[in-house]
Amino acid sequence: MAKVIDRDTATDTTPAQMLRGWDHLEWWVGNARASAGFLSSAFGFDIVAYAGPETGLRDRSSWVLQQGEIRFVVTGALTPDCEVADHVRAHGDGAHAIALQVESAQDAFAAAVARGATAVREPWKEEDEHGTLVRASIATYGETIHTFVDRSGYSGPFAPGFITDNLPTTPPGSTVGLERIDHVVGNVELGALERWVGFYRDVMGFDQLLHFDDDQISTEYSALMSTVVWDGSKVVMPINEPAHGKRKSQIEEYLDYYRCPGVQHVAQHTSDIISTVSALRERGVRFLRVPDTYYDDAKVRVPDLDLPWDDLQRLGILVDRDQDGYLLQVFTEMIGDRPTVFFEVIQREGAKGFGAGNFKALFEAIEREQERRGNL
Ligand code: FE2
Repeated sequence: MAKVIDRDTATDTTPAQMLRGWDHLEWWVGNARASAGFLSSAFGFDIVAYAGPETGLRDRSSWVLQQGEIRFVVTGALTPDCEVADHVRAHGDGAHAIALQVESAQDAFAAAVARGATAVREPWKEEDEHGTLVRASIATYGETIHTFVDRSGYSGPFAPGFITDNLPTTPPGSTVGLERIDHVVGNVELGALERWVGFYRDVMGFDQLLHFDDDQISTEYSALMSTVVWDGSKVVMPINEPAHGKRKSQIEEYLDYYRCPGVQHVAQHTSDIISTVSALRERGVRFLRVPDTYYDDAKVRVPDLDLPWDDLQRLGILVDRDQDGYLLQVFTEMIGDRPTVFFEVIQREGAKGFGAGNFKALFEAIEREQERRGNL
């Protein structure tokens, strides 16, 4: 008689229960040196580690950037047959790995695979004078992977093989003050949202935090559905699927240019968005334009909030609220050449939402940009 495996009892602990939070995002890009410089000069990240031909890598180089608790790695190919070059040719610059810190990479990997994950790389251990780092990777949407990172036995700046001497210094500029990753958003194909929510529920042990239907997030032209899954603590991952609108959804535009599901935006938290956005604008970061009429509406939508409306309007910062409080948020223009990936800056004052009340205003702003590219 065939043995029946009950998924819920296949392993005692889910990957979600082993998570400590975000570890880093690794971007595969066309020119890692230039991307590192851009993140450093425009977004205020410090370059904290490097690996490349000087350290023995033959096919790629990587720069590690840090701001607050946020860690990005940008990696570029040195040879045409490197997997990074293939990824960039297909997708443009994009997030290849969403790395999550865990107590044990072996256990998180084993639990995920037992619960149905596709293994990408079995647990591997690396050592140097700072200790031992253990990692393992599984597949998620598109060509994106989750890497489980156990750095409990490692005290170096990033990983064995990375050096910290002779790094470019951080260019001068006002302090930006990005503190931590708030959420990482993925776009998936039409009809695939439920399957990926199922993946995060069944494989990762995540819970559903919120769901928005297309009637909640739509404009005359563009629509999407979104479900937010999370580990119950820090790792919050909204997933979007395009919905039918009069014209092409911004999610479809992403899928056309990224050419498969992938990371759409990374929201980074600040406790003072006015100072953060002022510094970013001064450093040359460009944001989505928000129509002045947005603020006339917003003052009616949240009449009892005592906010510095003039500053918000001058800086193009959006306002939303839910039953727990309010949030301020702003979206950058695309950070690469293709209309795919962008950043969000968010300040939460109690609110646990994602700006659903803003989405219509935001989408109208996005569609104006899309129309200028001839893709609406
Ligand atoms: Fe967001």
